[in-house]
Amino acid sequence: MDQAGSLRKKENFGMQVGSDIAEAVPALQKPVRVMTVSSGKGGVGKSNIVINLSIAMCRLGYRALILDADLGLANIDVLLGLTPKFNMSHVLNGQKKLEDVLIDGPGGVRIMPASSGVQELTRLTDDQKIMFLELLDGLEADIDMLIIDTGAGISDTVLYFNLAANERIIVVTPEPTSLTDAYALIKVLYSRHSERNFRILINSASGEAMGKSIFAKLSKVADHFLDGISLDYLGTIPHDTAVTRSVLQQKPLLEVFPNAPASKAFLQVAETICRSRPNVNQGTIQFFWKRLLNV
Ligand SMILES: Nc1ncnc2c1ncn2[C@@H]1O[C@H](COP(=O)(O)OP(=O)(O)OP(=O)(O)O)[C@@H](O)[C@H]1O
Ligand SMILES: [Mg+2]
Repeated sequence: MDQAGSLRKKENFGMQVGSDIAEAVPALQKPVRVMTVSSGKGGVGKSNIVINLSIAMCRLGYRALILDADLGLANIDVLLGLTPKFNMSHVLNGQKKLEDVLIDGPGGVRIMPASSGVQELTRLTDDQKIMFLELLDGLEADIDMLIIDTGAGISDTVLYFNLAANERIIVVTPEPTSLTDAYALIKVLYSRHSERNFRILINSASGEAMGKSIFAKLSKVADHFLDGISLDYLGTIPHDTAVTRSVLQQKPLLEVFPNAPASKAFLQVAETICRSRPNVNQGTIQFFWKRLLNV
């Protein structure tokens, strides 16, 4: 079978498992859901979203692993006050095993840290990519959700992870530049790579009404210019000073301010994600990394 054929087989297998057996044997057979959290504009709250959604998913009984793919500017460990000894670069240059690099974060999440200045995954040799793929294969039994903080913008790395994931979450805030930059990211993924499915998460809005109106604006433009696009409204995280306070404490919002409005919204959004049926092109984690090798 050629490579494309074997990938299709893998894809079909993922769908079949998703539709029948997984209902009966949830954690054992379900393929890992791989989702990116991205934005056009920087500083819109992605890293906070990744952390708090992952913790919320753990509370809902899913095993979540955060991949910090903001490779040049690692944020996740700093936001959590963690100082990992090793990071992805040590695995990739063969100095460390994956299990030596993964760290336990708060609330049951596991984290694969990046570091500032680490070599970008897109620039890895094929051998290094295959090595990484094999290492991650071993994780399949241990995780349900792989949540990737891609960093901002439309760099090759950001596009690369977005294309490889099964689900794409794009974060937008009320700032007009956030909206135009989100549209730019969606447009590049759509026009250059035919990607059509996106979930939109509004952050830092005054409330749900504002969030929905921002979504409506983005949706209107996308529907008009990008034929066949599918944007789903995922929810709104309100502007909440508790978020900034948690960042200053280097602790996750959900743990230090569990009753804050933003915490409640994170729990709701995590529930929406966990309850939703994964996309049709759902695959296993091996599928994710095999797609990466082919992008
Ligand atoms: N819902 C919110 N309410 C209030 N402030 C928020 C909210 N979300 C994020 N912030 C503020 O925005 C800052 C930036 O958040 P974060 O670092 O998660 O953004 P980012 O998108 O990951 O940034 P970058 O693109 O630089 O990686 C936070 O430190 C926090 O102060
Ligand atoms: Mg960040």
